[in-house]
Amino acid sequence: MAIRNIVKDGDPILKKVCRPVEKFDDRLATILDDMYETMNEANGVGLAGPQVGLMRRLCVIDIGEGRLDLVNPEIIETSGTQEDVEGCLSFPGEWGMVERPNYVKVRAQDKTGEWYEIEGEELLARALCHEIDHLDGVVFLDKASRMLTVEELQEMQAAAEEDEEIEE
Ligand code: CO
Repeated sequence: MAIRNIVKDGDPILKKVCRPVEKFDDRLATILDDMYETMNEANGVGLAGPQVGLMRRLCVIDIGEGRLDLVNPEIIETSGTQEDVEGCLSFPGEWGMVERPNYVKVRAQDKTGEWYEIEGEELLARALCHEIDHLDGVVFLDKASRMLTVEELQEMQAAAEEDEEIEE
C-alpha cells in the first residue's frame, strides 16, 4: 500500500463529475488499498476518488466500524434529516453545518464487481452522502448552511484535546 497525495481546495478536479469504474482488476484493488491507507493516515472517515486525483466513481469509508469499499455507489433510499458539523480532508481547517438524511441505503459494487447494499444512520449516513457527493463534483461547502467561526473551531479543538486526555 502507498500513501497518495490528497487534492486540496481550489483544484478543479473536485468540481468534476466522475466516470463509472468499469474494470475490476488488481489495479482497482491497489487503488482502494492506497485510498484506505491515505484516509487513515489523515485521520479521515472517508475518501473519494477525485480527492486522490482519480475521476472515477469510487470511495472508501471507515467511521470506526470497519472498512467499506464503494465502487459505483448509488443512494437508493433516504429518510429523515440530521444537521451536524462536517469537514473534509480536501478542506483542512474548514468546518460547516450540513443537513443530511438521517438514514440512507446505498447500492455499490465491491472491488470484485459484486453488488451489495449498505444501510447507514447518523454518522455513516452522513459519510455515505458526503463521499457520493464528491463523485458528482459536490463538496460539503456547497451544502453547508453556515461555516463554523474561529471561536467555535477553537472550542471544538479544546473539546477534542480533552477527549484525548481522557483516553490516555
Ligand atoms: Co470530503
